[in-house]
Amino acid sequence: MTMCDNPGAEANHGPGDEQLTDYLPRNDLRRAGERARLPDGVGGIQLSHVTKQFLSDQPPAVKDFSLTVAEGEFTVLVGESGAGKSTVLRLVAGLESPDAGDIYVGGLWVNDVPVGRRGVQVIFQSLALWPHLKVLDEEHLSNISFPLKMRRWSVDRIRQRTRDVTERVGLEETLFGRKPGELSGGEGQRVALARAMVTDSNVYVMDEPLNSLDPINRMKMRSEVRRLHDEIGSTTLFVTHDMREALVLADQIAIMRAGSLVQVGTPDTLRNYPADPYVTELLNA
Ligand SMILES: Nc1ncnc2c1ncn2[C@@H]1O[C@H](COP(=O)(O)OP(=O)(O)O)[C@@H](O)[C@H]1O
Ligand SMILES: [Mg+2]
Repeated sequence: MTMCDNPGAEANHGPGDEQLTDYLPRNDLRRAGERARLPDGVGGIQLSHVTKQFLSDQPPAVKDFSLTVAEGEFTVLVGESGAGKSTVLRLVAGLESPDAGDIYVGGLWVNDVPVGRRGVQVIFQSLALWPHLKVLDEEHLSNISFPLKMRRWSVDRIRQRTRDVTERVGLEETLFGRKPGELSGGEGQRVALARAMVTDSNVYVMDEPLNSLDPINRMKMRSEVRRLHDEIGSTTLFVTHDMREALVLADQIAIMRAGSLVQVGTPDTLRNYPADPYVTELLNA
């Protein structure tokens, strides 16, 4: 691509970008695209001055938004409905493209990298399982084997990987032959998690993935999600509107309102030094 393809991204540079551009000249990052690797420790997810406006007569859904999720960290994005949380996740996943700003995943500038090639696994509230496919079938397309079939893995390799992953998420073999419509909410959630985990990617974005669960299963899955994150050593950006969920799960919490970041910090920092009345309000809700 040429520098002119994305003029908005050029217009929006300010403090904070040095972190990345210190390592590689900006032009090299862009030219090298997927091949450019930044030194260790600069992985994870980074949004730098990202703006996304859907409709010209509406304010931007995401406005000059900067956030870093360090490699291996569990960050929770909290905010009321309409704050722009899903848009941030969709921008990271590549389901939306930014009007301005830069997005990095695993140290790579991914603004131009299509969805599916960013190494980002997405888990939606709706699960997005294929209703006509079985849970797992190593020889044919199925919900869990789908990403591996697409990569043309051998049946043996698929079997090895999927057995490992289904064990981790606690999916019984007796469920493999069922279709999503024949599963409980918690079982369906495990299938969605397993599908997200079978590839080698270790960057996850999760959009209110526990909303459809009853309170007991929600608590169980909450600790499972965190345990899996720690076991795999993945980088996770998790969205919820539930501050209590955020306080339990997060290494870092980012509070968002009306498209902008209000405060980011550890749960303790937010409790002890709320930077805005809105943060206090969420903490006391
Ligand atoms: N595809 C779209 N077209 C137009 N407006 C959108 C679109 N997606 C989201 N929006 C608007 O952007 C704002 C932020 O939405 P969203 O990111 O879904 O918020 P949240 O996930 O925090 O509830 C809302 O005002 C929403 O109506
Ligand atoms: Mg949302």
